[in-house]
Amino acid sequence: MSYAMVITRFGEPDVLEWREVQAPVAAAGEVLVRVRAAGVGPTDLNIRAGRLTEVFPQGPGSVLGFEAAGVVEQVGQGVSGVSAGDEVAAYLPSQGGYGELVAAPVWFPKPPQVGWTEAAALPASAEAALGTLRQVRAAAGETLVVLGAAGSVGVIALQLARSRGVRVIGAAAERDEELVRELGGEFVPYGAGVFERVAALAGRVDAVIDAAGRGGLAEAVAATGDPARVVTLADPAGAAAVGALMSQPGPDRAPDALAVTLPMLAAGTLRLKPRRSLPLQQAAEAHRLLASGEVRDKIVLTLS
Ligand SMILES: NC(=O)c1ccc[n+]([C@@H]2O[C@H](COP(=O)([O-])OP(=O)(O)OC[C@H]3O[C@@H](n4cnc5c(N)ncnc54)[C@H](OP(=O)(O)O)[C@@H]3O)[C@@H](O)[C@H]2O)c1
Repeated sequence: MSYAMVITRFGEPDVLEWREVQAPVAAAGEVLVRVRAAGVGPTDLNIRAGRLTEVFPQGPGSVLGFEAAGVVEQVGQGVSGVSAGDEVAAYLPSQGGYGELVAAPVWFPKPPQVGWTEAAALPASAEAALGTLRQVRAAAGETLVVLGAAGSVGVIALQLARSRGVRVIGAAAERDEELVRELGGEFVPYGAGVFERVAALAGRVDAVIDAAGRGGLAEAVAATGDPARVVTLADPAGAAAVGALMSQPGPDRAPDALAVTLPMLAAGTLRLKPRRSLPLQQAAEAHRLLASGEVRDKIVLTLS
């Protein structure tokens, strides 16, 4: 047996409880990871509240967490190149990161220069950022607008696009202007009229990644002239209304995301959104802080 923060029922943050669970095992192609840190994402809050049951049907008794970092405990059948005791970052499309142990189908060795909380903050956001960048086919010399450019996904999408020679206009809060500019983006304040502000900077927009889910997809399609070059991570109704792409997590969207981004983190060529950590047993408090807006940083849950 092992312990995890379990969703005891759908509801407010206090439905998350530290409970004994059946210890996961590594199936073929997986590694079992003893978790040192697990990232918390906005999607976790929606799953816990029961707002995403059509996409994530796991209900009460399940364990949240799309990303973690830790030490390999067991290697599943057919897995090579990694051994018990190795330190890894793991992407968990079937979740489970909020536990002492998790079986991971996607992992990459954690470089020693990258800390536990940094490694745990990366996987799901990197997978979404690289996946959406590919979905909109942003190419060198083109102009990409990132809505939510200062968020966990947005900062990575912005930097990956810049590293590929793409011009990036990042829509973010005024207080995040400096961050967007430091990362190589051009800044526009988010909110109503954002594409008018984009038009004042760039005559042409080739692609849009919506990493905020706060509307604007009709304007994005009008700006690009092609709904297939507009993708959202968080606005399925908006995407359906205008024919834009709705991007969902999965093992096939960008399975190489950690291989691309962990070396960049180690080399200092990729920065993540500011983060703070809390003990895993305080996951409910982490959800409360994020939902209330008291904390804008990425929260990473830690286990000693
Ligand atoms: N479908 C998928 O595969 C997938 C994967 C990962 C994430 N997601 C979803 O994608 C979204 C982003 O995730 P994240 O982890 O990057 O969240 P995050 O770190 O909270 O970033 C969201 C960013 O959007 C900004 N924002 C708020 N209102 C905005 C507006 N009107 N226009 C532009 N930006 C605005 C926020 O700024 P403020 O802090 O100022 O509010 C914040 O910087 C979430 O909804 C998450 O659930 C989906």
